[in-house]
Amino acid sequence: VPEAVIFDLDGVLTDTAEFHYQAWKELADELGIPFDRKINERLKGVDRLTSLKIILERADREYGQEEKEVLMARKNARYQELIGAIRPEHLLPGIPQLLEELRRSGIRMAVASASRNAPAIVGSLGIGGYFGHVVDAGALERGKPDSEVFLKAAEALGVPPKNCIGLEDSAAGLAAIRDANMLAIGIGEPSILEAADYVAASTEELNWELLQEKFGRQ
Ligand code: G6P
Ligand code: MG
Repeated sequence: VPEAVIFDLDGVLTDTAEFHYQAWKELADELGIPFDRKINERLKGVDRLTSLKIILERADREYGQEEKEVLMARKNARYQELIGAIRPEHLLPGIPQLLEELRRSGIRMAVASASRNAPAIVGSLGIGGYFGHVVDAGALERGKPDSEVFLKAAEALGVPPKNCIGLEDSAAGLAAIRDANMLAIGIGEPSILEAADYVAASTEELNWELLQEKFGRQ
């Protein structure tokens, strides 16, 4: 039986995936590097430096380590401006109901995000009380698609991975969930999220009954 649900944050609990895109897009435009939503799919779920490296693949020169640090700091400053306005109303549709329903059903919950900004965003959304654990992205050795972040979340909750369900909007994150031996639920476009056991078009579709049904079918 499923005992825990482990949530990605950006693009699952709230629409910060869009803010990440905007902040990277502004930076890429300033640098004159082509960047669009298609390339952005590869940035979803991966850490800050890996994201920057993907953008710089299309640059016409090499960037040194110090320059990369400056660019990452610039992107993060802009991102923090954008997330400064986050309030509980910015939870994605259906998420407040889902969190409430899972809590009532005695399901343990955790956040498994690659973002160092995750704890602040969880706080601004006012949902910290739902989670038994929020993984510290700064303490990770390997990012998604490695399973580490999901395994750490399960361990902190004290639930075996096979009894966990992972929710993700990124291809890298779904690969990480599969690798962790959990049921992988995607949110978004099935063509991008091929690694998922099931893909919901939107968070609105998610509820405990659906998650249990998919868990039973695997
Ligand atoms: C999440 C997002 C990525 C982002 C990463 C690092 O995984 O999906 O798009 O690059 O977090 O976020 P940070 O806030 O630490 O720069
Ligand atoms: Mg995400």
